[in-house]
Amino acid sequence: MTLYGIGLGPGEADLVTVRGKRVLEEADVVYSPGRLSRSVALNHVDESKIGDLDFPMTKDEEKLRSAWKEAAAEVAPRAREGDVAFVTLGDPNVYSTFGHLRRTINAFHDDVDLEIVPGVSAVTGFATAMGVEIEAGAGLSLREAADGASPTGPDRMILFKVTDAPATHEGLVEAGYDVTYGRRLFMEQGETLITDDPAEIDERDYYTLAYAVKDDLEIESATAAFETDGTDETKGTDEPTEEGEESASSGEPLADGGTTETMERERAEGCAQGDCGGH
Ligand SMILES: C[S@@+](CC[C@H](N)C(=O)[O-])C[C@H]1O[C@@H](n2cnc3c(N)ncnc32)[C@H](O)[C@@H]1O
Repeated sequence: MTLYGIGLGPGEADLVTVRGKRVLEEADVVYSPGRLSRSVALNHVDESKIGDLDFPMTKDEEKLRSAWKEAAAEVAPRAREGDVAFVTLGDPNVYSTFGHLRRTINAFHDDVDLEIVPGVSAVTGFATAMGVEIEAGAGLSLREAADGASPTGPDRMILFKVTDAPATHEGLVEAGYDVTYGRRLFMEQGETLITDDPAEIDERDYYTLAYAVKDDLEIESATAAFETDGTDETKGTDEPTEEGEESASSGEPLADGGTTETMERERAEGCAQGDCGGH
């Protein structure tokens, strides 16, 4: 009998993982920390399974601690008897409410078995919505930028909780960043909006992110060599590869050839069983 922390993804019901959906369907009770996560969960479970927890909207740490202790005291006995799910938007391990519950359960009910089902985080949802690739080898920092804050330092950042975009924008631009904003990405409530104009999103909306990149950052990928003046006749040709040779475009070993060699190379390069984008 287990307490599952389930990442629901950014908000659209069909971005819940197959495993997340199965665990939700099998759970005896499903708790959610907010209205939006509850509404996503309701696409997959009947309302009768939704449990009741109260989370105060406060920054008072004493009140928060006591709310989390109460929540853990409600959830723990149910998770000893059966399977319980606690859902959060995005991923349960990325800036998530589930972390508070997990730590409180560990502190006061450490006999409760706990398992996490990862979800599609707003981080990856944002990269997809913007059409931006975080290339292999690139650095990326996560920060919070509530109430007009403008954290600076890293070359590239994704900022959460951008509630005052114009004020955040001013500080970031002054520090030499290009900034793109994303609001209500892949959510059922509201249209996905991507903009580099903070005036377009000057109304406060908690579901807003920013992507900030140093404006003098030079990114040179190996494929930059493909950018020619258009006279290169070999560009884009799809030459068939020899049997047993590794496909240059996909990096996947072909048929039965090359598999052992590729695995040995991966081990030698320190990424056994990994999906190393660097080669
Ligand atoms: C407490 S964090 C939760 C992050 C979540 N656990 C995740 O992995 O995406 C809440 C912040 O995430 C961002 N966020 C989460 N989902 C979003 C969405 N669908 N669209 C835009 N921003 C989102 C917003 O910046 C919001 O203020």
